[in-house]
Amino acid sequence: MSSNAKKLEREARLLGQVSRENLPFHIAIVMDGNGRWARKRGLPRIAGHRAGMNALKEIVASSHELGIKILTCYAFSTENWKRPRWEVDFLMRLPEEYLRKELPSLVEKNIIIRAMGDLERLPERTYRAVNNALESTRDNSGMILNFAINYGGRSEIVKAVKNIVQKALAGELVPEDISGDVLENHLHTEGLPDPDLLIRPSGELRISNFLLWQMAYTELWFTTILWPDFNKEQFLRAILDYQNRDRRFGGIHSGDDETGDQRQSF
Ligand code: IPE
Ligand code: IPE
Ligand code: MG
Repeated sequence: MSSNAKKLEREARLLGQVSRENLPFHIAIVMDGNGRWARKRGLPRIAGHRAGMNALKEIVASSHELGIKILTCYAFSTENWKRPRWEVDFLMRLPEEYLRKELPSLVEKNIIIRAMGDLERLPERTYRAVNNALESTRDNSGMILNFAINYGGRSEIVKAVKNIVQKALAGELVPEDISGDVLENHLHTEGLPDPDLLIRPSGELRISNFLLWQMAYTELWFTTILWPDFNKEQFLRAILDYQNRDRRFGGIHSGDDETGDQRQSF
């Protein structure tokens, strides 16, 4: 059997195990490990970023096929500006390249593109390409593909606090009105439920300033596989693992509800 046939067979087997009743509604991904992928091959880091785009295509297609409702992908962090100029410039051109190639297929899949982060600070061309994608998919009704670009969880929370304080100073609300819901309504993820599952490839066991507020009860899944090597098979494994977890949100497992009778016997 060819290696491609074997790959398809593995995917089909895993797909058969995935329960359609308990799919993560919102999946977030830190697309990390591009640089190391390139270095392992003696290639420049930018070759890793380009290869990462193919992984993104495969995961978007798999998410759409499975019926995932929201896929949030971390593309550029507020800390990534620290990188060398040539790398930042390349990363800023990637959304344009990705959207030029992929937008027709995303539109065809009825996907809604969203973007979150400090978008105003993006170079003009990047901003225009992203904005065009938002406009072109605004009336779609399928999966939400949400890109975090120039995004940082801390800066998002600071921005929300500033906006809330401004409203308070304008007399639109008083401190007693401020609740978790009010704060959430001032985050970039306004209107989106929190991620159910976070996938981080590349072996790093950290969050790196991604969705700090929203990940309070997200299930975390890490793999040492580098993002350009991440594929449908890995994605299905992450989902299967998620489906075997017991999400308690601070409560207790429903089967462990030892009430009245138990207590009386002590
Ligand atoms: C992720 O890959 C892409 C971005 C952060 C934009 P990296 O470029 O961080 O790859 P590594 O972590 O150096 O391998
Ligand atoms: C997180 O990866 C950001 C993106 C993938 C866009 P980094 O490579 O920037 O994170 P650290 O530096 O390893 O924490
Ligand atoms: Mg990295």
